[in-house]
Amino acid sequence: MARPAVHGYNAAMRPSLPCLLLAACATESTMHPTAPVPVADPHSYARPHEVHSTHLDLDLRLDFERHIAEGTVTHTLQRLDPAAPFVVDSAGLEITAIVDQDGNELHATWPTQPDPVLGTERSIRLLPTTTRVRIAYRTAPDAEAMQWLAPEQTNGGTQPFLFTQGQAILTRSWIPLQDSPAVRVTWTARVQAPPGLVPVMSATQRGHDGPVHTFAMDKPVPPYLIALACGDLVSRDISARCAVWAEPKTIDLAASELADMEAMVQACEQLFGPYRWGRYDVLVLPPSFPFGGMENPCLTFATPTILAGDRSLVSLIAHELAHSWSGNLVTNATWRDFWLNEGFTVHLENRIMEHVYGPDRAAMEVALGMHELASELRTLPAADQVLHVDLSGRNPDDGMTGVPYQKGAAFLRRLEQLVGRPAMDAFLRQWFDEHAFRSVTTATFLAFLDERLLRGRPDRDQVDVARWVTAAGLPTDAPVPDSVLFAAVDRELGRWRGGTEPAQLATDGWVTQQWLRFLAGLETASAPRTDQLAALDHAFEFTRSGNSEILAAWLVLATRHGYPAIDRRRELFLMTVGRRKFLKPIYEALLATEGGKDRALAIYRKARPRYHAVSQRTLDAMLGYSP
Ligand code: BES
Ligand code: ZN
Repeated sequence: MARPAVHGYNAAMRPSLPCLLLAACATESTMHPTAPVPVADPHSYARPHEVHSTHLDLDLRLDFERHIAEGTVTHTLQRLDPAAPFVVDSAGLEITAIVDQDGNELHATWPTQPDPVLGTERSIRLLPTTTRVRIAYRTAPDAEAMQWLAPEQTNGGTQPFLFTQGQAILTRSWIPLQDSPAVRVTWTARVQAPPGLVPVMSATQRGHDGPVHTFAMDKPVPPYLIALACGDLVSRDISARCAVWAEPKTIDLAASELADMEAMVQACEQLFGPYRWGRYDVLVLPPSFPFGGMENPCLTFATPTILAGDRSLVSLIAHELAHSWSGNLVTNATWRDFWLNEGFTVHLENRIMEHVYGPDRAAMEVALGMHELASELRTLPAADQVLHVDLSGRNPDDGMTGVPYQKGAAFLRRLEQLVGRPAMDAFLRQWFDEHAFRSVTTATFLAFLDERLLRGRPDRDQVDVARWVTAAGLPTDAPVPDSVLFAAVDRELGRWRGGTEPAQLATDGWVTQQWLRFLAGLETASAPRTDQLAALDHAFEFTRSGNSEILAAWLVLATRHGYPAIDRRRELFLMTVGRRKFLKPIYEALLATEGGKDRALAIYRKARPRYHAVSQRTLDAMLGYSP
């Protein structure tokens, strides 16, 4: 039986860097094929350079009454230091037994107080003969990774739903493991669900025996990519390797919206090499999902708010698919290298969009992204404007700004501008091929960049790589996005500012991205008046828009400038949608209005129980709410 340490070890005595710098690490040739890269990860207690879990086997039962997952995880160990304990991360887990492959009970110690960000370090003492460790445990009902939804939070309204969200450091709240992206594991799982509910995971489905479903991931993946969802789910094939999963009531819309999935996979394969994960499926979740999408291998998790009816928001699928190369195949070794995941992915996403939907669409998406980055940079502290950002002592979630995404992608576009598209695409393909199934640091990328792309080029000094990666702000050589379709929008914005009535503007045939540009431009010269907002709404029916991006942008604008006709629509939106990217600016706008704090809190108190822990964390801080 595991029991708390009786003496000696408490949080105050912990070294400041939980995962210590590896002074003596194994050399390349002696390393396990999935050996962790020797780096310090300030967001994990694991010591994979001493004992490395190479495979884990999950056996879990889902209890929808108690909101608990219960069962065992069995770790297969590679013991690099025979004297060292096996240290795992955990958060809120109740551990009931720890045994090795021979049934020997193993002794574990942990500090009395969990760290508020990192959770609890569990140090398991191993016997000389130990090769496998089985941990019996149950999750807490408020495990941060897990959101248990009541039937009324689903589209069907009759069955409950569960999904997990591991990135960045939440997997430890539903599986005790070495929760660092520098560590890679293969895994298998058996999941028992109540009758009528279908579990799905980020892996290959191996079938089911009654209520017990079996899964296997035979490629080594970082722990944040282990994911599970369970609900009233059905699937619809898009192609031989692509399918959409959703609730029965959502499946038709989801399948027609995502019909281009296979074309996207083929585009990315053509550009950046084979898709190495077997199937590529998308699961459309209930609206409380806190993100737009999450690149869980084999099975992207996506918000239903991309189902606009006209495929106008599918760049999000291109993005999550692109992570099958940038992120899942080649993974950031620590969260300060997050831009290697997201900046590369935004770049690949755009290359896919251009391939499948043409250069005009791709150009608009770049311009929208850069416009958002420019406004965000005006509010971000300088230290957070850096690609290679220092996140030690902080929640890695704080690094999820536009900087790793848009500045990261702008850096790659700048390099493409220097060397030309064919050379840049070929370089990226080599990067993925040569680092496949590895976790990499910024230093590794910079060395590769120098060696394979820049060295020997007489023009290489034109790009100040160090400045791009380590300085704040956007370097002045960032490529300026250029879109003819946006030039048309900007002309109409100019006419509107000059007094032309909304109905007289030339908006025929505008696509979603043009409307988003239009909405972003409405407050650039001066604040729109309430009567102007009413006229715009009358002409273009923004308040009734079924497009979540257009609606959310409009709700922010209308809230900020006091247009009360949106109030009911806004409340309904905040009560149903849990996507943080939408919630945050809407609550922020409401907070900034007169008497807004009370109104925001009145809605938040009702809506909060429906939000996932990651959205709650952000909004609690913003609204000064303590539960
Ligand atoms: N991997 C991210 C989501 C994420 C990042 C979750 C960090 C937790 C911590 C995913 O690929 C993503 O970037 N999603 C975006 C959409 C994308 C189109 C920019 C989102 O959810 O908004
Ligand atoms: Zn992403």
